This record gives sequence, structure tokens and C-alpha cells, in this order.
Amino acid sequence: MIETGAISMEQLNRQVSQCTHCPLWTTRTQVITGQGSLTAPLMLLGEAPGGHEDMVSGQAFTGEAGQHLEEFLQFIDIGRQEIYLTNTVKCRPTKPSPRGRYGPYSNRRPKASEIKACSHWLEQELKLVSPKIIATLGTVPLGRLLGKNIAMKDYHGRPFFSEQYQAWVFPLFHPAAIIYNRKIQPLYYADLAQLKEFIKMHL
Ligand code: URA
Ligand code: SF4
Repeated sequence: MIETGAISMEQLNRQVSQCTHCPLWTTRTQVITGQGSLTAPLMLLGEAPGGHEDMVSGQAFTGEAGQHLEEFLQFIDIGRQEIYLTNTVKCRPTKPSPRGRYGPYSNRRPKASEIKACSHWLEQELKLVSPKIIATLGTVPLGRLLGKNIAMKDYHGRPFFSEQYQAWVFPLFHPAAIIYNRKIQPLYYADLAQLKEFIKMHL
């Protein structure tokens, strides 16, 4: 068990699993905690769990998102167990949708207030895992690390060093975005190829 200061990942996960810091606790089935290697040099930071994570698997990036992730990991030639995988917001954000696939809801982006409320948990994870590279998937996690709203076109594929986290941040599009927006597909794959090289150089 890894201990840093007073709290271990096990203790942290126990606490986050009971969190009621924002209204998402009232609609969630379960909290989706981070997973993977606690000594991983690479952290993948997603947005928030979706319906499959919340209602079926209880794990981050499963269902359709999991397929995108598998493809992603194959492309950069890294196994799921070698990374630490987590989300910016730990409970599924929903909006009512009578014909939803997972309950009478569909997924939505987390609100700024939910991101802020959940911030504390991610900070603790970052301290415990202390990754060398944080690859952010989409605008939500990157905006969270930078503390401002951002446009992906200004950041994707341009790693920068975060003094605050003592880690390289590598901004990527969200893997699901290439489904909605075919035009970014070549940019997404170019960024992944660059990430692969970046990992070779820095890890
Ligand atoms: N599932 C997750 O766990 N995170 C995402 O960002 C999307 C789907
Ligand atoms: Fe707590 Fe985060 Fe879930 Fe909100 S989203 S209830 S802050 S764990």
C-alpha cells in the first residue's frame, strides 16, 4: 500500500465513494474512482463517467468509451495496467432523456460547479500517483488543470510543463470527439503519434 502523508489510495477511494459534495450524488448509481498503477508515470485524465460506467461496469472508460480507449492504448503501445486512469468528475452527469440507453437519462458535460466540487479528489490522486505525464482527454480535464475555459484548437498536441503538478501536461482531443467531428480525426492521430514519441523521450 502506498502512503503519502496521512492518506492512502484505498482510504481516498473509500472517502470518494461516499462523497455528497455536489448534486451528482443524488442521481449516480455509484462513484467511479480512478484505477490502474499507482506508480504509473502516465496518467490519463478523462471527463466524467457515462452511463455504462455508472450503471454497468463501475469502472472508468468502459462500453463505447472503453473501445476508444483500447484503440488509443494500442496506438501508443501501452497496456491499461501500466497507466493510471481517472476522470475529472467522479459521478455521471446526466440530463433527463426518456429514451436514454442507461436509465431515463443521457450524459452531459459536467458543470463548472461540479468540476470545482470534485477538484479536491483529483488533487489527492495527483499527489498520490505523482505522474510524470498527464494526458488530458478533451477540454474538461485541460480546463480543470489550467483553471480556465479553453479551446482545444489552441492546445492539442502541445505539451507544457506544469509547475503546480511537477508534470508534463499533454493535451489531446477526447477520443469520442472524433466520432462527432470527423474533421479532427487526422489531428487526433497526429497528436497520438507525437505523444508516443514524447513518452519515449520523457519516461
Ligand atoms: N467514460 C469515462 O470514464 N470518461 C470519459 O471521459 C468518457 C467516458
Ligand atoms: Fe462528490 Fe465528485 Fe461525485 Fe460530486 S461528482 S458527488 S464532488 S465525487
